[in-house]
Amino acid sequence: MSEEFERARPRSKALYERARSALPGGVTSELRAAHPFPIFFKRAEGPYKWDADGNKYIDYSMGSAALLLGHSHPLITQAVADQLPKGTLYTHLTELEVEWAERVQRLVPSAERVRFVNSGTEASILAFRVARAATGRSKILRFEGHFHGWGDDTSVGIKIPFDEPHTPGVLSAVNEAVVVCPADAASAEKALASDPDIAAIILEPSGASWGTVPLPENFLADLRALADKHGALLIFDEVISGFRWSPGGAQGLYGVTPDLTMLAKNLTGGLPGGAVAGREKPMRLLDPTFDHTKTPGFVFHRGTFSANPLSAAAGIAALEIFETGEPQRRADALAAKLREGMGRILIRHEVAGAVYGPSSTFHIYLGPGARKGYIGGLGPRELKGIPPARVQALQRALRQRGADLLSYTGGVTSSVHTEEDIDRTIEIFDDAIKELAENDLIERL
Ligand SMILES: Cc1ncc(COP(=O)(O)O)c(C=O)c1O
Repeated sequence: MSEEFERARPRSKALYERARSALPGGVTSELRAAHPFPIFFKRAEGPYKWDADGNKYIDYSMGSAALLLGHSHPLITQAVADQLPKGTLYTHLTELEVEWAERVQRLVPSAERVRFVNSGTEASILAFRVARAATGRSKILRFEGHFHGWGDDTSVGIKIPFDEPHTPGVLSAVNEAVVVCPADAASAEKALASDPDIAAIILEPSGASWGTVPLPENFLADLRALADKHGALLIFDEVISGFRWSPGGAQGLYGVTPDLTMLAKNLTGGLPGGAVAGREKPMRLLDPTFDHTKTPGFVFHRGTFSANPLSAAAGIAALEIFETGEPQRRADALAAKLREGMGRILIRHEVAGAVYGPSSTFHIYLGPGARKGYIGGLGPRELKGIPPARVQALQRALRQRGADLLSYTGGVTSSVHTEEDIDRTIEIFDDAIKELAENDLIERL
């Protein structure tokens, strides 16, 4: 089945062989490994990208969801091009970072203060440090399947089985400071009541893995109340939902305000960067001019590239466009059309599964238990437990026909995908599902 895929990508195949001698496994992130080999890209524009062999793809990975405005948006490209000859790193402050932070304050309800970092993972490191310092406690409560970067503090709970670390190399004391529970209010309450050492509750307010596993009704408000009752801080990881779910992210859309928020991806218009935004009181711990003798102490944080002028310039340009709400509305409508069209294909081919998702996302569940296209009561073990061979086959079948997923079995739309792109993608999906069904790679109803 993958012969055709390989035939059309000789250059990617050769580059992969070369890469294997320079990069462990030929990749720079484990998520980029792919079957039969990863594709190498060389150009992208708007909703499309082209690989090293000249094949064109409609892109639903969109820079791992960092590019709500599509590839090479002219205003972001211009902002970076204007800054480049003026210098890329001054060691000291810029007006750019002040304006960037002010725009975050204006959009994100919890952002009384903003500290820029270099990635979502860095944002988690800093958010946990601030939460521990602010509360004098040590543990983090997190939820099964939610992803918060590749840092030590959350390496238990990402993958099935959710109660085991998924990587060696992390101190057992660090793993023991992580409390993982199912994403429901009763389980969270039980965990908080039985452990007075929990400093913070963290979650993706979209549901695990940008909505792959939806949250129960009222969960955000329940967690807000539980955090207050038990004296823990509430952290929203809005690395994906930030600016995408609404101009103010998931918290802007759902009306629940956390104490601290992690931001990255769209924050910088797709350049490297991130931030922790939060209430003034915990964020004061990062203020080197404050008298910390009467507080828990000063929280140490640095970063050569934090708020670098290129990322700041791109971030300002992006946030100015996000503020209108127009890109979010357009991307949401396109994703709704895609979900509906793909869902119809599964029903037509009598395949067990469903296509679902919030905001400008789509998630393709291929397994038993979904009813009439809805995932009903399926939980993280089912929704994140699609057999790897099936995931790989779907990814390859779609790529072979010119559509690229974000990761696993889902993707995101941007504000620059067209109605024709969506129609074409539904045709591609139809063909791919037919191929998988004919080869018994997916289950029939
Ligand atoms: C919800 C969430 N949190 C944190 C991260 C980590 O961000 P980064 O890859 O910038 O370190 C990601 C990355 O995809 C994410 O999706």
